Amino acid sequence: MFQNLTHAKVFQEFLQQTTFPDQPSNLYEPVRYMLSLSGKRIRPLLVLMGAELFDSEKIETALPASLAIELFHNFSLIHDDIMDKAPLRRGKPTVHEKWSDSVGILSGDALIIKAYEQLSLCPANVLGTLLPLFNRTALEVCEGQQYDMDFENMAVVSVDSYIAMIRLKTSVLLGCALQMGAIVAEAGFKDQQLVYEFGVNIGVAFQLQDDILDVYGDPDLFGKQIGGDILSNKKTILYTKLKELVQGHDSVILDKLLQDSIHTEPGKVEMMKDLYAQYNIKEKAIALKDKYIRAAYNKLNAIDVSVEKKQALFSLSDALTNRIR
Ligand code: IPE
Ligand code: IPE
Ligand code: MG
Ligand code: MG
Ligand code: MG
Repeated sequence: MFQNLTHAKVFQEFLQQTTFPDQPSNLYEPVRYMLSLSGKRIRPLLVLMGAELFDSEKIETALPASLAIELFHNFSLIHDDIMDKAPLRRGKPTVHEKWSDSVGILSGDALIIKAYEQLSLCPANVLGTLLPLFNRTALEVCEGQQYDMDFENMAVVSVDSYIAMIRLKTSVLLGCALQMGAIVAEAGFKDQQLVYEFGVNIGVAFQLQDDILDVYGDPDLFGKQIGGDILSNKKTILYTKLKELVQGHDSVILDKLLQDSIHTEPGKVEMMKDLYAQYNIKEKAIALKDKYIRAAYNKLNAIDVSVEKKQALFSLSDALTNRIR
């Protein structure tokens, strides 16, 4: 569904060349496990497509950068699942469930080191530009993750603060992926910025869709625990919109639901879903998602290459922002 099949295959072959030692098995087995699960591999695809947009000869040159981003992403997922106490990832038990929190922390660390190892293999003439972008983005992801956790303990989080948080935890990495591809293809700075902004806006829409799927997704396809965000008091687009609109006795119900200890699954999830339905929250989240998709398209339209060359990115954005997994 997301795949430019050629890119996906080229990337998969490249990924398979990265091997890990056998011992200590509790360090490397979880790394192999995580990388073997069926991730969508969107970020490496964006790196390759970012390169292709500006110079189709540079796709192979962009492979180490694409792998660096995917390794970083997998590191962030292992740690995210510890922080979110998530039982399932890509349809399988999370690393910390299968092993332990400590194993998850350390195998995540190993993955980020491997990400930098790949970065160091990028062409020397662009490394000086790639590295600060990657570092800034990686730190922004940490900032977003911290806000995400801080917000769990706050009853009121505005939609604007929520958007600022997801921009950091999720969206900038998609922008970074595309810009890294553009840098490898030696695109001009203005085009690099436009493709970055395109990715960030698609990234916001991507996370909005993730929040929607967390409540309304098909458990078999989504591969993560449905209702997990509600159970852990995440301030998602659904919650922040509801909080903005909720009135009267419903406010009291909502406040009670946030006091986790008195409402455990499945009652809490169902009651929250009732409130979402009453205030048409899902529809409002979709409308906001569409706004970001339009903003993304404007950025892509402004890039100085032919419409034909942009077509693949338009189609990918469609698939990503309407995804079911
Ligand atoms: C999950 O990312 C984390 C979010 C930013 C929502 P993906 O949905 O790209 O996860 P995989 O890599 O395909 O499993
Ligand atoms: C993910 O946010 C952001 C990062 C992993 C950095 P979520 O916590 O919503 O992602 P999922 O739903 O667990 O994939
Ligand atoms: Mg999570
Ligand atoms: Mg999280
Ligand atoms: Mg999520």
